[in-house]
Amino acid sequence: MSTTDLLASLQNSFIGRDTEYPTVDGKRGPRIYLDSAASTLMMGPAYDVGHEFLEHYASTHSDLHYAARGASHAFEWAHDKVLEFVGADPANYCCFFAGSGATAGFNRMAASLARARPGRDVVLVSEMEHHSNDLPHRHHNAEVVHIPCEGEFERYGGLDMESLRATFDQYGERVNYIAVTGASNVSGAITPLAEVAALAHAVGAYLIVDASQMIAHAPADMDAADVDVLVFSGHKIYAPGSPGAVIAKKSVLGEIKPAELGGGMVDDVYIAEYMPTATLPDREEAGTPNIVGAITLGAVLDLLTRVGMDKVREKEIALIDYAWKELSAIDGVTLYGPDPAEVARTGTLTFNIRGFDHGLTAAALNDYHNIQVRNGCFCAHPYVRELLKKELWEMDIDPDAPNAEGDIERKRGMARASLGLYTTRADLEALVAAVRDLVARRDEIKSQYEPIGSNGYRHRQFSPPAGDIFDPARNLENFLARSA
Ligand SMILES: Cc1ncc(COP(=O)(O)O)c(C=O)c1O
Repeated sequence: MSTTDLLASLQNSFIGRDTEYPTVDGKRGPRIYLDSAASTLMMGPAYDVGHEFLEHYASTHSDLHYAARGASHAFEWAHDKVLEFVGADPANYCCFFAGSGATAGFNRMAASLARARPGRDVVLVSEMEHHSNDLPHRHHNAEVVHIPCEGEFERYGGLDMESLRATFDQYGERVNYIAVTGASNVSGAITPLAEVAALAHAVGAYLIVDASQMIAHAPADMDAADVDVLVFSGHKIYAPGSPGAVIAKKSVLGEIKPAELGGGMVDDVYIAEYMPTATLPDREEAGTPNIVGAITLGAVLDLLTRVGMDKVREKEIALIDYAWKELSAIDGVTLYGPDPAEVARTGTLTFNIRGFDHGLTAAALNDYHNIQVRNGCFCAHPYVRELLKKELWEMDIDPDAPNAEGDIERKRGMARASLGLYTTRADLEALVAAVRDLVARRDEIKSQYEPIGSNGYRHRQFSPPAGDIFDPARNLENFLARSA
């Protein structure tokens, strides 16, 4: 099968891509899912691999009965697939799974590296980071220095390399590591990792990359960029329910003590002492792992490796260029982050429509157009505030005032449309048409909504209860009725 055919067949395989929902006009139709930066849909054949594995399910860490032997082999295969996908030579790198996303990996690495290198008391973090790749470093290290981005106001974004250079010069060998995103979850701005690695290594610091938003959108090559540690969430690359993945140089892991203790990571335990194993990744994977999730993730990565991430990226660039051009041409729409012609970006587009709060935009796109986008500050509050600064000032809101009162949550945020492998040009044409419709019918649509909570909106006549959408209890009742 050609890579083009494989890509097309994968694009059609996603579970839930065409799930139908009702809209305000009384119709029902397939959704357009543009919330992939939060979590992606499940790739069909990868789900099948995980599901079929259940026929042989057993825990790992044993070779002596058939199922455990199969499970151990498949779990090891998943590790190999991760290493291959991120261009990490197994001679130098090791992969381990942790938690249900990237958050566990950052907490682990922050705690372990702070403990392992107490003489280096400074950590650098970019201002674009998701809280997951900021707060663990603040918690575990004496000093965190935030590196600004280039540009200002709505064009703010893309790491300011001059400022980074100056900060490395200033702190030198006090820097333990720099933690930076591979691509922002707000603007999609991509970081030049090889350049950052060279600056870090010049003073003996490590580079930790948050690849959560990069992994499904752009090729990763840890060897070529000389990245020390890379962390990502499996649920952001078409394997919801899979674990987080940490890929680290063996030399780095050799310096740290295992952060989690329990079964599977020790050679022997006595009442008086215990001996953690030297074997990787076992040393870093205490407890019974998420085997099914890891195998599903391995299957996704195998298939995407066959397609080639260059090809995935090329397809996405065409979609980003189209959406950026069309949305920025609409009067009253502000797009955030650097222009993709100037800074490479992944398929994440944040925007506001004049006269609409971000929550209202998200609700109206859902209710009137069956388009699912996210809204808010996306767990990247400092970056979003910087991008919104001018608009908030114009509304007499001080973006930097902690605990500001009033309508601040309703005003402080954006709508975010984020792409996945399944996103088509037609999906984006529908988004552009829907945004135009919201602009054209601003007053009429606004009058249909009432504010709820600190930043939500509810349509006055049309608001199907959550239980009508999916209700596990109802599913069970159906099973029980069939079994009776
Ligand atoms: C850039 C980035 N980093 C980290 C995370 C945290 O990932 P998780 O919630 O899967 O741990 C996210 C999730 O949205 C993200 O977008």
